Amino acid sequence: MLKCFTIFKDKSKSRRGGRSAPEMRNKETSGNNRATKSTGSISYSKSIPEMYREKHHNLRVFSPSELKEATNGFSRLLKIGEGGFGSVYKGRIRPPDGHGDTMIVAIKKLNTQGLQGHKEWVAEVQFLGVLDHPSLVKLIGYCAADGERGIQRLLVYEYMQNKSLEDHLFNRAVPTIPWKTRLQIILGAAQGMMYLHEGLEVQVIYRDFKSSNVLLDKDFNPKLSDFGLAREGPEGDRSHVSTAPVGTYGYAAPEYVETGHLSSKSDVYSFGVVLYELLSGRRAIERNRPVMEQKLLDWVKQFPADGRNFSMIIDPRILNQYAPTAARRMAKLADSCLSKNPNNRPTMNQVVEILQQSLQDSESGTSTLLRTSESSTFNDIVASDKHLKKMGVGPSTRQIPIAQRT
Ligand SMILES: Nc1ncnc2c1ncn2[C@@H]1O[C@H](COP(=O)(O)OP(=O)(O)OP(=O)(O)O)[C@@H](O)[C@H]1O
Ligand SMILES: [Mg+2]
Repeated sequence: MLKCFTIFKDKSKSRRGGRSAPEMRNKETSGNNRATKSTGSISYSKSIPEMYREKHHNLRVFSPSELKEATNGFSRLLKIGEGGFGSVYKGRIRPPDGHGDTMIVAIKKLNTQGLQGHKEWVAEVQFLGVLDHPSLVKLIGYCAADGERGIQRLLVYEYMQNKSLEDHLFNRAVPTIPWKTRLQIILGAAQGMMYLHEGLEVQVIYRDFKSSNVLLDKDFNPKLSDFGLAREGPEGDRSHVSTAPVGTYGYAAPEYVETGHLSSKSDVYSFGVVLYELLSGRRAIERNRPVMEQKLLDWVKQFPADGRNFSMIIDPRILNQYAPTAARRMAKLADSCLSKNPNNRPTMNQVVEILQQSLQDSESGTSTLLRTSESSTFNDIVASDKHLKKMGVGPSTRQIPIAQRT
């Protein structure tokens, strides 16, 4: 697991309170305060905390004893994961009225020693209390209690039977996922991110797109999780918000790490990294490989999408089932997502469109290797594809220009 990084620590102190979530009224600790927009005075129609209050959502408020009981006292036997926030347990909760069947859930317990913390916990509750999409994990409720034994912050989610995309791509003890399922997963994840960027009154920048945050339900439907770092995007014509860079090494966009300028295109960059992880079955950074192979994005540059050795990047576990046309299309898409200049990166809407085409390529079983002509921007890919579609040219004979590799 790659660790999250915080280059500048947030000094804002949380206000301690009772069992519910009084902190959510405190903008200082909201996790998405928008004090540092790249312009002066900007008025918002609605902020996430406001939407959260208005929605009168149905999040359940759990007591510490309920969640202790649900996890057999946070038994190590029920621990299913560990991240920067703390440990994750499988648990069983009773229905709100105490009658009827119990329900299996995942319970995340804040590690009070951790770098991430209360602020992210509040952001997670607020964002997931407002957001609603089939490709986002469902938050069932939370627990906040402060007492002699310190602060307790927990989150209760729907249980994802198939863990995360990370587990299936990189953990040799977990069965791998076939080519078509990989495509469906990445398309679903892209649709989730498109919803965040374009489907709400406010734009939401996810800020932590990585394979461990793509959870998989019993049918391998992807669900984005972990909104602790999410932020509201810039308003109006502004290109970015300025913020202390936080995220995960290997996934964060270079301009964001260097300048703190955050935009939806930072998420698109992270998406490009995960696309290459999905194609190659390799992690963004793998310290136990030869030096030349440790950084996935450097390694794949040797095997360009239009080159004859492209298949070298394909995960050996799916070599006999992948569709080369779709794979090359996806590698080009990844390259455009990874463009150095954020403006040259596609929108998630465009990403979804290309992935749908790739899925069609895979479904039609085409294995034609595309010869490519010269071009450098993502718009060319979209434009040429649309143009060819209009002309009635099927996916197997489409030509896709090369996207710039940065
Ligand atoms: N709702 C859930 N259902 C089932 N398993 C889950 C659920 N949420 C998390 N997990 C498991 O717990 C693991 C740890 O999750 P967590 O989000 O705490 O950390 P992470 O994503 O690995 O790292 P980071 O904290 O840096 O984001 C996940 O990879 C997944 O296997
Ligand atoms: Mg996570």
